Amino acid sequence: MQAPLIVIVLAAGKGTRMRSALPKVLHPIAGRPMIQHVVEAAAALDPAQIVVVVGPEGEAIADAVSPHPVVVQRQQLGTADAVKAAREIAAPLIAEGADVLILYGDGPLITSETLARMRGARKDGKAAFIWLGFRPPDPTGYGRLLLSEGNTLAAIVEERDASEEQRKIDLCWAGLLLGEGEALFRLLDAVDNRNAKREYYLTSLVELAAREGLLSSVVEGDSDEVRGVNSRAELAEAEEILQWRLRRRMMEAGVTLIAPETVYFSWDSDLGRDVVVEPHVFFGPGVRVAEGARICAFSHIEGAVIEAGARIGPFARLRPGSVIGPEARIGNFVETKASVLGARAKANHLSYIGDAEVGEGANIGAGTITCNYDGFAKHRTRIAAGAFIGSNTSLVAPVEIGEGAITGAGGTIVEDVPAEALAIARAEQVIRPEGAKRLKARREEGKET
Ligand code: UD1
Ligand code: MG
Repeated sequence: MQAPLIVIVLAAGKGTRMRSALPKVLHPIAGRPMIQHVVEAAAALDPAQIVVVVGPEGEAIADAVSPHPVVVQRQQLGTADAVKAAREIAAPLIAEGADVLILYGDGPLITSETLARMRGARKDGKAAFIWLGFRPPDPTGYGRLLLSEGNTLAAIVEERDASEEQRKIDLCWAGLLLGEGEALFRLLDAVDNRNAKREYYLTSLVELAAREGLLSSVVEGDSDEVRGVNSRAELAEAEEILQWRLRRRMMEAGVTLIAPETVYFSWDSDLGRDVVVEPHVFFGPGVRVAEGARICAFSHIEGAVIEAGARIGPFARLRPGSVIGPEARIGNFVETKASVLGARAKANHLSYIGDAEVGEGANIGAGTITCNYDGFAKHRTRIAAGAFIGSNTSLVAPVEIGEGAITGAGGTIVEDVPAEALAIARAEQVIRPEGAKRLKARREEGKET
């Protein structure tokens, strides 16, 4: 039986280099705060507890990681001090012999597979501490791993405390640590701040543990996975890596991406088999696309469900609450919001459909607008199955168009239209024979005087 696991995510750092009003770990990657990626990777290990260490202004982080608790580290005195902030909340599980896994909230690319490998390395109990190592293209700034025989770790030296020789080592600590909880918290009390930064270093544990005969060993990880985000440029790099993971996952699941590098997904994008996505499409959070649908170029989609065989775009915008029925068509420059379109319904050109229900097979003419907002409240438009809305119609909600009804082009529909009725709601056309000719003649006269 493996010991229960406590995950401690460190997120008390100020993130100064982001130059942001938003705490660093709340900056989104693939449509959600980066710390949620970390928490999700940890959750896959089925830990008994996940706790996040935040700084004094961490309330916003508490909301983002809920229902997992946060604890506050009052002053940023170093990584060892940060872990201590979780001592009290972890105590009951530590007493039961729990292991502790330490992660960074600003390392959103870590995968559960790598965490599981660390867990695996603890199984035989030979090493009390497992440190995740990696070989960054440029090791500057990282703690260097000093190995003795086998894979045993003798010490970790921070860049600023390292000798010229030690700085040449390319194997670095990624900041992830898994260890025996009781020993970890006990040894943390012995950590001092006699170093170049005057900080309490978590890395001091290696030597303190060794003095008690507790071994440390190293599991090596992929350098892209342990990348930290400290600046907007690094945020964009992390986004790009994550986007490629999502694009590959989609293609493996049977989705065609004509130009994958131009399509942006969210962490929860869910696309079915044989969906085709043309270039330059953006999927915000909460999108599901069923089998065989086609998303044409330059479409922006969030919080929407697209049923099988539907066709969206080019240049369509689907906002939250849109449900596009099977085989339905949403064409260019059409925006939908909080609206359900039935099977085979069509809105092919230049429309706004908001707070509406559109029945099966209904046809919405070019330029149709649901006037859903009167400046005070939102109102609903109901268009029944098979109805035909003429081009350039304003549907002033609340309003209902009955089954099979037709509205003439250019109408402003303010009253309900019964089933099978024809509604014409525009000024009658007036013809004045030769009127144009007379008008032009009058203009000419005006010019001469
Ligand atoms: C740390 C490691 C270094 C490692 C590197 C990997 C130490 C002493 N050094 O260095 O060996 O190679 O990470 O990225 O641990 N934090 C707190 N409270 C604090 C200090 C830090 O919560 O008081 C959090 C930060 O928000 C951050 C993480 O801990 O997520 C790491 O802190 P940081 O200051 O970036 O450590 P490094 O100097 O990069
Ligand atoms: Mg750092």
